Amino acid sequence: DSPTWHEQKQRFADGWNHRTTVSALSRRIEPRHDPQTMSTFENEPDSDWTQPNVREQLNQAIANWSNPALPPIAELDLVLDQAVVAQPAWESRAIEERREILKSASKVMRQDRFRTIACMQREAKKAIWEADAEISEAIDFARYYAMEFETPASLKAQALGVVVVTPPWNFPYAIPAGGVLAALMAGCSVILKPAPETAATAYLLASQLWEAGVPRDVLQFFPCEDGETGKALITDSRVAAVVLTGGWETAQMFRNWRPTLRLYAETSGKNAMVITAQADRELAIKDLVKSAFGHSGQKCSAASLAIVDQEIYHDPAFRRQLRDAASSLFVGPATDRRSIVTPLIRPASPALHRALTILEPGEEWLLEPVQSPQDPCLWSPGIKLGVKPGSWFHLTECFGPVLGIMCSTTLDEAIKWQNATSFGLTAGLHTLDKEEQVYWKDRVQAGNVYINRSTTGAIVRRQPFGGWKRSSIGPGAKAGGPNYSHLFTRLTDRNSFV
Ligand code: ALA
Repeated sequence: DSPTWHEQKQRFADGWNHRTTVSALSRRIEPRHDPQTMSTFENEPDSDWTQPNVREQLNQAIANWSNPALPPIAELDLVLDQAVVAQPAWESRAIEERREILKSASKVMRQDRFRTIACMQREAKKAIWEADAEISEAIDFARYYAMEFETPASLKAQALGVVVVTPPWNFPYAIPAGGVLAALMAGCSVILKPAPETAATAYLLASQLWEAGVPRDVLQFFPCEDGETGKALITDSRVAAVVLTGGWETAQMFRNWRPTLRLYAETSGKNAMVITAQADRELAIKDLVKSAFGHSGQKCSAASLAIVDQEIYHDPAFRRQLRDAASSLFVGPATDRRSIVTPLIRPASPALHRALTILEPGEEWLLEPVQSPQDPCLWSPGIKLGVKPGSWFHLTECFGPVLGIMCSTTLDEAIKWQNATSFGLTAGLHTLDKEEQVYWKDRVQAGNVYINRSTTGAIVRRQPFGGWKRSSIGPGAKAGGPNYSHLFTRLTDRNSFV
């Protein structure tokens, strides 16, 4: 189809940093304007740390922070009953009222930014700038879903009912915010079941939404253990849908527990960045290091592989620059402002430990990772050369600060290896050659594809986030993009009701 004027304009505005479209659901032309004010949607800026008063506010928040006392865990049956009873009244409120509450939520989140950073720094061991970016993303979700939720006049949208949101510990604020806000905007009631490691951050989020006007029965905070109660929650027929961000195995477990479950899951990834001979090498190194080692590689979107054209791969200057860039990242506790690489949230898994300590046949260290003698969870970045196609490291998600480099001879070979994993979450390409860009974009199998940019840090509206292949379960509308909030409604033809 030839693009409309609006689409062309949008493509121009977004440059090459857009994603592939996996589903027709993502194709609706989204509004760029708030329907009430007609103001343009703009992404929330991160904090400007050059401003002394901004740094001072953070200092104070960190000095004053103490973990909130979490409420006692209520009985599951009661929580579900309350959510079921509260939902119809929430849905029957005027859409404009729900929009206003989401906008208020964005304001409360903005006002509370420094406290939230302090909480994430302590609980998730997040570097300040990573935590800060999560808050911007959460604010974007609130404003975007408030603006975006529109039902064409010919259709009737009915909320699904009670939605369970089960976020991960690596994005303990933005990811739950995305699921919760979209479901609330659609008129559902929500049970937020936090990751056990980051329950305080999720509680802070819930408190901010209550303060903004979301009734407590409509949004319930339910920090249960993952075992028996978790299973009882997922399998209860009062739950209409579950939003999961976590491992692929967890998604399979949910499916086995309840085969008919309406499940929207973003799962694992083994993401690679292709660097061709036509790349701007310094830009590629900067983006690769950010993609591989941001949050110590504990992002589903992280690039843990680079597939580098032989001309660059064998160039001593490239190797030196890459090693220098990675070894210049400050490695330390999250409480140290200089830290870029912070401790893992928990000791390395067996797979990650293997990746950090063992070389497979043909591999060699360009930069050998070192474990801190003070903190066994703190590892400096590791880079291994000579990763072989089809090898264990090529195909296994490790979720930590270790990057493998493969040497390719053609772009076709690089694409083949990039697509070889069963996952398809993010994929990157660095080349200045337009023909290579188009060729690659038409063949790469990933939900979010990025050219001349890092593979992490999707931006609401501009780069809606969602996977392909084993990285995603659900109908394909992406978080932070058009129609995502309609995943929580049943759309029917209005005429069938007359
Ligand atoms: N949405 C997160 C990112 O893009 C996972 O890095």
